[in-house]
Amino acid sequence: MTTTTRRPKIQRRTTLPRRQTWKALQTHYKSMQSMHLRTLFTEDPQRGGRMTMEAVGVLLDYSKNRITDETIRLLVELAEESGLREGIEAMFRGEKINVTENRAVLHVALRAPREASITVDGENVVPKVHAVLDQMAGFAHRVRSGEWKGHTGKRIKNLVNIGIGGSDLGPVMAYEALKYYSERTMTFRFVSNVDGTDFAEAVRDLQADETLFIVSSKTFTTLETMTNANTARAWSIAGLGGDAASVAKHFVAVSTNAAEVAKFGIDTANMFPFWDWVGGRYSMFSAIGLSTMLAIGSEHFRAMLNGAHQIDEHFRTAPLADNLPALMGLLTVWYVDFFDAETVAVLPYEQYLKRFPAYLQQLTMESNGKHVTVDGREVSYDTSPVYWGEPGTNGQHSFYQLIHQGTRLIPSDFIAFHQSLNPLGRHHELLLANVFAQTEALAFGKTAEEVKNEGTPNWLVPHRTFEGNRPSNTIMADRLTPEVLGKLIALYEHSVFTQGVIWNIDSFDQWGVELGKVLAQRIIPELESKEEPPLPHDSSTNNLILRQRARGRSKT
Ligand code: F6P
Repeated sequence: MTTTTRRPKIQRRTTLPRRQTWKALQTHYKSMQSMHLRTLFTEDPQRGGRMTMEAVGVLLDYSKNRITDETIRLLVELAEESGLREGIEAMFRGEKINVTENRAVLHVALRAPREASITVDGENVVPKVHAVLDQMAGFAHRVRSGEWKGHTGKRIKNLVNIGIGGSDLGPVMAYEALKYYSERTMTFRFVSNVDGTDFAEAVRDLQADETLFIVSSKTFTTLETMTNANTARAWSIAGLGGDAASVAKHFVAVSTNAAEVAKFGIDTANMFPFWDWVGGRYSMFSAIGLSTMLAIGSEHFRAMLNGAHQIDEHFRTAPLADNLPALMGLLTVWYVDFFDAETVAVLPYEQYLKRFPAYLQQLTMESNGKHVTVDGREVSYDTSPVYWGEPGTNGQHSFYQLIHQGTRLIPSDFIAFHQSLNPLGRHHELLLANVFAQTEALAFGKTAEEVKNEGTPNWLVPHRTFEGNRPSNTIMADRLTPEVLGKLIALYEHSVFTQGVIWNIDSFDQWGVELGKVLAQRIIPELESKEEPPLPHDSSTNNLILRQRARGRSKT
């Protein structure tokens, strides 16, 4: 993480709660607070169609939100007043909108077509992006075709990506999401946790002579990744007869830090670079996606980039009222800041998207979990909600009870596809019937009267009544392809961007993860030292350290 000593020039904006439109939204909220979706749908029989938008093959039905046309008008006005348009332009122009790290934010350049031009500090970065994509494609082809041989001349059959956070969550999510398109003769594993179990289980059935490691780390200094990489190197060398020269055939690196890669012992000829204007959680379309490309091949990878690019263009050019990611971001602001919603559920009805909510957690919460504005003032409104979720229909038999009848308002995104990649009998119709049924039940519920009319005894009526009025979005596309996955990711990235602009926060730094890292570095020697160390912590932390020293294995 870099820092600059000079404070950059930051345009001071009127504090959000003082803005005219914010006040208008507060007044408008009072009229919406108790307005039921049943009434909104009864009053406007065309609402479902009217509040559905489609762009570049992605459909967003936002009609089951607690909004009217006036809400949308005000939210769009808020976006204009907050400088969303200018913010988008600034990002695409390569301005250093990550002010606290003095960096441009250009994940959109990663999926720009070859002929595009996007400049950072006067340099067009698009040719560099495509040079690395070509390097990745060449390497992926050599490994997948068997041309790239291991140290003993064997074909590489296993690929292990070592990384954490943005260097893991995107790759593992994309691998799972696109498994249908993956090279099934190869095994793909992902190691992230510094808990040794993660590495041990990942390699327990693998042979070192058939295994290639990708060490993925933007900084190449992250404790977890470097610990796992060192363990992997020892495991690999031991499995290859102790010959350290084998590293050249069994390790490649993805990083922005060539010096650290070389120091680790990986030839920089086997390094795939990216740049400081790619944030960790926005990096899966960069060389960090090497494992994805190895799994699905370069054509599918490029299709994924193309999908993301289509949404980028839509976000950049569509009027805000017809702009899918802008609208999704604004609806989140509406629920978080006016309805006091604390969380958003993301519910993919597609088993291949099982890691999508986990991926979104970093994207959303590391981006917008901030309590000060870009110019360092404490915010007086809530910022990022907690994002969470699980694939449906599994979640229905677990936590949906709370979404339907709990005391909290949980706006939910339902994600589904018209066609299944594995059309088995009636499975897909049953799956989709559940998507539509859930959003219907959440919105309209079941009144006490309806419950009574079914002959329910009076004492049971409150338990069986569904209040309804629980908002949801339904996001649909034809089928889960690499291109569609690219679109979905870009959709959420730009929704997060929209939220960040409204809240006037830096969505691209992550200072909040630093303190724990620093304290862990201090505690490591206190756990490992042979001599009893002086312990300067609070009494709880001191006791825990002492107990671990007495009972753990680390002092040997
Ligand atoms: O600790 C948070 C973080 O910095 C994330 O932002 C990042 O994605 C992750 O760690 C991994 O960092 P790196 O790719 O540098 O190893």
